[in-house]
Amino acid sequence: MIPRLIGARITVFGSAGNVGKRVVNEALARGHEVTAVVRNPARFNELNPSAKACVGDAGNVDDVVRLSTGQDLVISATRPPKGNESELVEITTSLLTGLEKSGVRLLLVGGAGSLTVPNSDGSLVVDDPNFVSPAWRDIALACVAQFNVCSSNTLVDWTYLCPPALLAPGERTGNFRLGNDELLIDAEGISKISMEDFSVALIDEAEFPRFKGNRFKGNRFTVAY
Ligand SMILES: NC(=O)c1ccc[n+]([C@@H]2O[C@H](COP(=O)([O-])OP(=O)(O)OC[C@H]3O[C@@H](n4cnc5c(N)ncnc54)[C@H](OP(=O)(O)O)[C@@H]3O)[C@@H](O)[C@H]2O)c1
Repeated sequence: MIPRLIGARITVFGSAGNVGKRVVNEALARGHEVTAVVRNPARFNELNPSAKACVGDAGNVDDVVRLSTGQDLVISATRPPKGNESELVEITTSLLTGLEKSGVRLLLVGGAGSLTVPNSDGSLVVDDPNFVSPAWRDIALACVAQFNVCSSNTLVDWTYLCPPALLAPGERTGNFRLGNDELLIDAEGISKISMEDFSVALIDEAEFPRFKGNRFKGNRFTVAY
């Protein structure tokens, strides 16, 4: 039985982002010691004052090593600006390279694109316009490439959390379902969760790893109402 991680030292990249700031809040509310990383100190004032604010770039291996050494866990919630979606693979490669050196576990906020569509012949969410509109296809494709980079890494203890199709600000309820490789949809065919509940699932996994990788490869899971 793996013991619950209490009072952990957690570094969060992308901590001023929509998902990242909620992940920081959830981790702090549960008593963890959070190092909140932003690329520009001008964003320090957007961070929860209980976090330790640091400047760093997830795309810079030295920064990843510096900000992960001695920590219990790294969470990445980064998203490149529109038009630069391919940076997601570079950032993920940099995170994995840095964490190979520091030996720290990685929890990644990923995308839904690499999940399979329920009741299909195994087609991917990224190719289904019912779930990914043309406006979101580039970032969804980048997330598929990001997941593939993780999948080929056998040296880092990584876990990739796939959101459902819709991930938006909302309420923290603590009520949701977990899955593995298939998109979760409700009785109406909707696949969604609030960013607050997504953060609960992520910190649950941080504290009590149910989807931890093994020595051959990492693992992933998904969450939705
Ligand atoms: N259904 C889905 O699959 C779905 C839906 C929504 C979101 N997502 C995923 O969730 C993740 C987070 O989304 P979000 O809405 O929170 O994005 P967001 O609000 O745009 O925030 C992204 C954050 O990433 C940071 N960032 C970008 N490049 C970085 C780097 N090299 N190093 C450190 N930080 C960097 C940005 O910081 P700066 O201020 O420095 O630019 C920004 O704070 C994305 O990967 C996105 O694909 C998936």
